[in-house]
Order: sequence, then C-alpha cells, then structure tokens
Amino acid sequence: MDPTGSYHLAVFVRFLHVLSAIFWIGLLYFFNVVNVPTMKALDAATKGKVVPVLLPRALMWFRYSAVATLVFGVALLFTPAVYPAGPGSWDWKILTGVSLAVIMFFNVWAIIWPNQKQVIAMTAASAASGNAPPPEMAKHARTAYLASRTNFWLSFPMLFFMIWASHT
Ligand code: HEM
Repeated sequence: MDPTGSYHLAVFVRFLHVLSAIFWIGLLYFFNVVNVPTMKALDAATKGKVVPVLLPRALMWFRYSAVATLVFGVALLFTPAVYPAGPGSWDWKILTGVSLAVIMFFNVWAIIWPNQKQVIAMTAASAASGNAPPPEMAKHARTAYLASRTNFWLSFPMLFFMIWASHT
C-alpha cells in the first residue's frame, strides 16, 4: 500500500477499532465466564452490596466500547486505503462479520443494558429496604442473560469473518 494520508489514517483507525473491540468483547467474556457463575455463588445480601458497585461500572465500559468499536469499524468501511473502490469492494466476508457485530451491538443497547439497569436498580432497592426483590427482576435477569449468551456465541463467527476479511 502507498504510504498516503489515507493509509496512515487506516493504520490508526484500525488500531482504535481493535483496541475498543478488545474492551467490548473482553467484558462480554468476563460477564459470561466469570460474572454469571460468581453471582450464582453469592447470597442475596452479598449480591446487594456487589451488584450496584460492580455492574454499573462494567456495563458503562461495555456499552461505550461497543459504540467506539462500531464507529471505528464503520470508519474503516469508508477509508479509501482499506476499500479503494468504496462500498462496492466490501466482500461477503466483511459483510458477514459486520452484520453479526451489528446484531451484537443492538443486543447490548436494546436488550442487555435496559434489562440490566432494572436488575441493578431492583437489587439496590431490595438491599436498602431489606425486602425481597420484585418477581419481575428474575425476568429482566433472564432476558439480559439470554442476550448476553447470544452475543457470546455470535462473537466467534463474527471475529472469524472479521479477521478473515482483512487477511485474504
Ligand atoms: C460493530 C461493527 C463493526 C464494524 C462496522 C467493523 C468493521 C471492520 C472492518 C471494515 C474491518 C476491516 C479493516 C481492514 O481490513 O483493515 C475490521 C477488522 C477487524 N475487526 Fe471489526 N467491525 C465491527 C466490530 C468488530 C468487533 C465486535 C470486533 C471484536 C473483536 C472486531 C474486530 C476486528 C478485528 C480483529 C479486525 C481485523 C484487523 C486486522 O487484522 O487487520 N470488529 N472491522
């Protein structure tokens, strides 16, 4: 590739894309392989203390790193050094990877976050009042869990195609 401005821009944007992707998917793997079994092992009183401190911070980094990944990823799609012929040069591999990643992005913002927000609020309220959490909490937790598990499994083909597309 020519060392043009677009080339150096692509190098930098690609770096930012992969860095934010590590943040996002690293936290996704933390939720799925560490947090879920850890929360199962804790009693209600301990959860009442841990959840309102741990989850808002983890979910803040999680959803904003998803935004950064999407923004830098879309920027790469429109960077001439990466795709000189514009949208016409996007092949099926990158379109497959991007489609899966976009589904994952909507799972984060439209399902996981709104439901987790309820779980956090209900856990904190029940810890403060000493009453049992309302029955809807289990439904919110289950919905967030299923969307998160879906993203966990989607991340493997997503990453496979994302990387394959750049190293043909
Ligand atoms: C959210 C929507 C996303 C879009 C629009 C997007 C877009 C892109 C594009 C266009 C490329 C090709 C860049 C090139 O050929 O230099 C790329 C590469 C890559 N993306 Fe994504 N991506 C997204 C999400 C993700 C996610 C969630 C990950 C998670 C790990 C990821 C990881 C990577 C990696 C590792 C590369 C390969 C870099 C390389 O080897 O050169 N992307 N992405």
